[in-house]
Amino acid sequence: MFNLTEEHFAVKEAARSFAQNELKPGVIERDSKMLYPTEQVRKMGELGFLGMMVSPEYGGGGMDTLSYVLAMEEISKIDNSCSVIVSVNNSLVCWGIETFGTEEQKRKYLPKLATGEWIGSFCLSEPEAGSDATSQRTTAVDMGDHYLLSGTKNWITNGGTSKVHLVIAQTHAEKGHRGINCLIVESDWQGVTIGAKEDKLGIRSSDTHTIMYSDVKVPKENRIGEDGFGFKFAMKTLSGGRIGIAAQALGIAAGAYELAVAYAQEREAFGKPISQHQAIAFKIADMATDIEAARMLVYRAAWLKDQHLDFDQAAAMAKLFASDVAMRHTVEAVQIHGGYGFVKEYHVERLMRDAKITQIYEGTSEVQRIVISRNVLNGALYVASPVLAAQ
Ligand code: CAA
Repeated sequence: MFNLTEEHFAVKEAARSFAQNELKPGVIERDSKMLYPTEQVRKMGELGFLGMMVSPEYGGGGMDTLSYVLAMEEISKIDNSCSVIVSVNNSLVCWGIETFGTEEQKRKYLPKLATGEWIGSFCLSEPEAGSDATSQRTTAVDMGDHYLLSGTKNWITNGGTSKVHLVIAQTHAEKGHRGINCLIVESDWQGVTIGAKEDKLGIRSSDTHTIMYSDVKVPKENRIGEDGFGFKFAMKTLSGGRIGIAAQALGIAAGAYELAVAYAQEREAFGKPISQHQAIAFKIADMATDIEAARMLVYRAAWLKDQHLDFDQAAAMAKLFASDVAMRHTVEAVQIHGGYGFVKEYHVERLMRDAKITQIYEGTSEVQRIVISRNVLNGALYVASPVLAAQ
């Protein structure tokens, strides 16, 4: 259904070169010391990786989703703290504002977000509303010309560095999910408090924080969409976000695979390279096959989004499959490396730790199964091509 163009290959090559030359040196230290990649984020902004899909009218690269996933894949082979920043900024914050925001909101926020001058965060999760996202306890009380926002959000990627927060909050509790709103909040407004940085298993140098809002005055013009549109906004935006995380998972798997293949051809045991032993060769064959299958699902979900076709189910399938492939095959890549795989210097142990979060954030694997099964059971049986299905 799609071909990569010369422009796509150029984006992939630019991202690969940036990741290998600028992100790889220092990635082990940043991970180990939980150092936020300030300089690397600045460069990603300069090179256009933070607003790839934003229209040039608002200062972005005007690229398609396929270009974005190609860049995500290459960056994720090396540094997933950087790629999650790229993912949240592009597909949750910028895409959400550009697709559903007002002209004023786009003009005010997108040019700075697209260049990385400002970073965005997506504040949906709460201590008691993770997978069950409709159970929002954060409230946005309607005060006429503004909302008063109060509540606590947790696991917020970019929590300590983002200037722009998209905050999901309940306004009309009696209406359930139809009473939820999404508000654009700025981090330096009175009543916003950033909690401590989380000490995580993986993506350790990205900054994940709890954020507290206490009677924060948010002007009405900072609401995205009609009153009560917030939950649908979150669901649709997260669907696109899942394509980015699926691409991250694909990059993790492919990065570990590249390291494992190189190591297996170099390392000798019993008189020949370990790649010549069937026990290792078969692992490599399985990795190559699964990664290619994940790649097809991820690219296809991106392509569907670019064609303005329904991509919710394809995005959930891509994330479910690619994140499982990432977890399974990073474990295998460590195994191929033997003892060397267990030490930080060889990079694969970091990829194995990073893989786990792709099965958790932007909807756990269980949430993806809910989305897929509801789609399948509520409509026709899944068909490979929505274009064919429509004929
Ligand atoms: N597009 C538009 N509307 C949608 C939609 C979509 N993709 N999915 C659901 N909706 C609508 C439904 O149509 C329904 O509206 P109506 O009642 O008006 O028809 C409404 O939303 C509620 O939908 P459901 O009944 O399906 O909702 P549910 O309570 O059963 O929940 C769920 C479904 C899939 C489990 C959902 O709650 C979910 O996705 N949970 C996971 C949340 C999540 O991904 N969190 C990630 C946090 S952000 C993050 O991780 C970012 C980061 O920092 C990296």
